[in-house]
Amino acid sequence: MERLTLSKKEFTLFKDYIYEHIGISLGEQKIYLVQARLAKRVKQLGLNDFTAYYHVLANDKTGEELEYLSSLISTNVTSFFRESKQWEFWKTHLPAMMEKKNQKLRIWSAACSTGEEPYSIAMFLEDNAPHIDVKILATDVSPRVLKEANGGIYSEKSAASLGATYLNKYFKKQRQSDVNVYGINESLKKNIVFRGFNLVTGNYGLFGEKKFDIIFCRNVMIYFDKPTQTALVEKFYKMLHKDGYLFIGSSEALTDIKTGFKSRSASIYQKV
Ligand SMILES: C[S@@+](CC[C@H](N)C(=O)[O-])C[C@H]1O[C@@H](n2cnc3c(N)ncnc32)[C@H](O)[C@@H]1O
Repeated sequence: MERLTLSKKEFTLFKDYIYEHIGISLGEQKIYLVQARLAKRVKQLGLNDFTAYYHVLANDKTGEELEYLSSLISTNVTSFFRESKQWEFWKTHLPAMMEKKNQKLRIWSAACSTGEEPYSIAMFLEDNAPHIDVKILATDVSPRVLKEANGGIYSEKSAASLGATYLNKYFKKQRQSDVNVYGINESLKKNIVFRGFNLVTGNYGLFGEKKFDIIFCRNVMIYFDKPTQTALVEKFYKMLHKDGYLFIGSSEALTDIKTGFKSRSASIYQKV
């Protein structure tokens, strides 16, 4: 099959669609990346060109093609206890936090991917504050990653970074399709609720008066432009209790965003 070329006009169609529906802002220089990522899908669906694919997308009422598109454009890369310095910070500040919070913590992992982040939070709290009342909300735009997260089954490769102590304490080794896998213990799963939520177009009214003590929104804002990031950070500010924390990715920062947050450490902000 001949190589498919994405015209500038087609690129604009996809760029606008992706911005409106996923919130990811793509600069003009991303034309070749979009061409390469979408070409595979166009061929897979037996279509002749990108315009035909755009029509499939725009007419899909199930939302499944949008989900597929979002997995082509953004990455789901994650790992257990990612950004090690943030966990050290939290460990130091946890006792003071618990005192104020009356032994109750509400946490939101706002782009949880395949679950390593919320499960790390659950393991961290079980290790450092086993008797507190913990509820973790874990959301992502992608149903595919949420399904994996909910399953809580990890390959030997992704579990390897945890080391034997964590694996023995929080996982059960199992055989699946003739390979070893690690399944997270039910006792950790029970404090986590996984839900679909698009941070950009989602209905924040659904949260009602719910407030959090910590929001993890790591390694996703990097895909959004400044106005989208600003709007999101303002929402997070409102959704945190006073003194609550916002943890973002280490390659992200709130510079140039006017906010009430105070920087407490690299990529950690506090509502004051
Ligand atoms: C690189 S992963 C980050 C996972 C985890 N927070 C971490 O730092 O390891 C980015 C995640 O953001 C999700 N995502 C992308 N756009 C989103 C949106 N508009 N709303 C919610 N999640 C989104 C992707 O599906 C993906 O799972």
